[in-house]
Amino acid sequence: MTKINPFKPNSPVPTGMFAGRYDELDELEKGLFQTKNGHSTHYLITGERGIGKSSLMMYLKFVSTGDIDSIKYGKFNFLTINIVLSDRTDLVTLIKLIEKNISRELGKVEKVRKFLSDTWEFVQRIKVMDSSIDKAQNDSDVDLLIDDFSYSLSETCKRIIVPKKDEEQNARDGIVFFIDEADNASPNLRIGYFFKVVTELLQQHSCNNIMFVVAGLPELIEKLSISHESSIRLFNQLLIKELSTLEREYVIDKGIESGNKINQEKTTISGAAKTVISNISEGYPHFIQQFSYSAFDHDSDGEISEDDAIQSAFKTGGALDAIGDRYYSSYFYEKIKSDEYRQVLSIMAEKMNSWIKKSEIRAKFTGDDKTLSNALVALTKRKIILKNHSRIGEYRLQQRGFAFWIKLFGNRKK
Ligand SMILES: Nc1ncnc2c1ncn2[C@@H]1O[C@H](COP(=O)(O)OP(=O)(O)OP(=O)(O)O)[C@@H](O)[C@H]1O
Ligand SMILES: [Mg+2]
Repeated sequence: MTKINPFKPNSPVPTGMFAGRYDELDELEKGLFQTKNGHSTHYLITGERGIGKSSLMMYLKFVSTGDIDSIKYGKFNFLTINIVLSDRTDLVTLIKLIEKNISRELGKVEKVRKFLSDTWEFVQRIKVMDSSIDKAQNDSDVDLLIDDFSYSLSETCKRIIVPKKDEEQNARDGIVFFIDEADNASPNLRIGYFFKVVTELLQQHSCNNIMFVVAGLPELIEKLSISHESSIRLFNQLLIKELSTLEREYVIDKGIESGNKINQEKTTISGAAKTVISNISEGYPHFIQQFSYSAFDHDSDGEISEDDAIQSAFKTGGALDAIGDRYYSSYFYEKIKSDEYRQVLSIMAEKMNSWIKKSEIRAKFTGDDKTLSNALVALTKRKIILKNHSRIGEYRLQQRGFAFWIKLFGNRKK
């Protein structure tokens, strides 16, 4: 009989299997508490691909709405708005998305529906302005739009913090925005400028119960500062890292446990198998989920053994194959056309994502000097590797996960 596989390599982790992040959650909950009490606090969550940014945001969303109790402050009751940015999201789309989300959440009360349609009336008007804003990138139009938006948002927030009679079901602690994949933001969106102006205007309108939680790859930080120099200072920054050994095992145990709840046939996993998954994942949550998923899938006798874990990790169509397809192979095989450039990456990957001297690479590289120099320039330009600004002639791979994949797998799929 086929079992339902409880591991989730392709989506944010269900709250029951969520591991670690205590310090981050502690900090974020403090922010919710501050915001609830009229001291808006904003957060920037950054980290490598698949490190668990969206999962952390999803968990925090449940804490914000009161579906999960916070660790220290009991239940919160915020209105939450989830936005995922793409490179096509412009200011108009962003504002429309927010307005739609708010109406959906609060518009169930008749009187509030009327209030919302009056307060957000400008959104109807901008429908006609779309194209002119897109083309002309007219600064004053953008400022007017941000001004209207901030005013409507603050009015809406005030209405739910102190609800009128018959609107008690809309009573909230404030509003939390979860803006994910913000590294996708196009220069047109001027994301840093947007946050800077909106937060200032909200303050001017005495609206202090709104929290922005913005997540993305590390390059988001640069994007924000290009768009507005001081926008970074609006945020408390959280850098998400690998899970500890104990946390990795917790994820595996919780997964097996939840599998046993939904499947009639039970599954166990040996300590040695857990160690294999924990070690080869190096604490990357998406690796843990994928190795566990593949081991669960590979097992045929209800006992996941060390051998199941190893075989399912390395076989064709196994865990590493899947991880590579999802995250790295397009980088490695499509974006990098030359075998020599790939060789440079493989040499660098031996040191994971630590700095490596050009002379060390040269000692192992089979091509000539000029090719090596060209490769380093091209790979740096494409942000696949980083150049050390404080030490001349040192480079490193941008992502540890990518380094790990190249090391284990990059040479196999020639
Ligand atoms: N705290 C956690 N506990 C257990 N599993 C986790 C945790 N965080 C993330 N995962 C798992 O790791 C994988 C990647 O998580 P997630 O999508 O949250 O990462 P991300 O940083 O948002 O990735 P991306 O950069 O691709 O958007 C998913 O399979 C998810 O289930
Ligand atoms: Mg994500």
